Amino acid sequence: MKIIITKDYQELTERASQIVISLMEKNPQAILGLATGSTPLGLYARLVEKYKKQVISFSQIKTFNLDEYCNIPKLHPQSYYYYMHWHLFNHIDIKPENINIPKSGGDDYDVLCQDYNEKLKENIIDLQILGIGNNGHIGFNEPGTPFDKETHIVELADATRQANKRFFNSIEEVPQYAITMGINNIMQAKKILLLASGLAKADIMKEVIFGGVTEEVPASILKTHSDVTIIIDNEAASKLK
Ligand code: GLP
Repeated sequence: MKIIITKDYQELTERASQIVISLMEKNPQAILGLATGSTPLGLYARLVEKYKKQVISFSQIKTFNLDEYCNIPKLHPQSYYYYMHWHLFNHIDIKPENINIPKSGGDDYDVLCQDYNEKLKENIIDLQILGIGNNGHIGFNEPGTPFDKETHIVELADATRQANKRFFNSIEEVPQYAITMGINNIMQAKKILLLASGLAKADIMKEVIFGGVTEEVPASILKTHSDVTIIIDNEAASKLK
């Protein structure tokens, strides 16, 4: 595991975008695994900027998002579909058919999980971007999720709903379920880039880096992957010293 500690969020964004851009330059048909949350926002803004300056193109890039809330309309401002279009897809030349976000509508969730899982098996992700929940979740794989899980429906932990309520009007509005790539899917990516920023992530990053590999800390599995880079800003790294 390679660990890069940056002085602040801006430098974290800079380092992360260098990695993504250099991959896209080497492989214009790369398959990217994308995350939501506040941490990758700077990265997406930087990718849009580089696209506008014609440094990179997404015309042959495919993307797969990690997760989506269940029972939330696509155009709800807190859906991950909306988030991705608002922050990235609406501003770049990606082909709509190359965008993959787990579907969360309809009533047969088993079929939706299976479909997404099959697509993931046909498309090996070159670079998976990850954030981390305060409780160590990656995607929406909450503590206790078996490491061999593939795409599945998850009941969100209270800690996750509390952490994400800042984006909603009230805790009641925060969805209770989500569809997420499983840890097994995430681990198939050729390269993984985990981003962590801010004091709220300091305890969990200490556990991920110094603790054992345990299903109680989903991100700890990353230590067993052969190509993981963690970019962590000074605040999130403050308990590592
Ligand atoms: C959500 C997402 C995760 C994300 C996490 C952290 O729960 N499902 O993919 O990593 O939030 O978000 P933030 O970057 O806002 O701290």
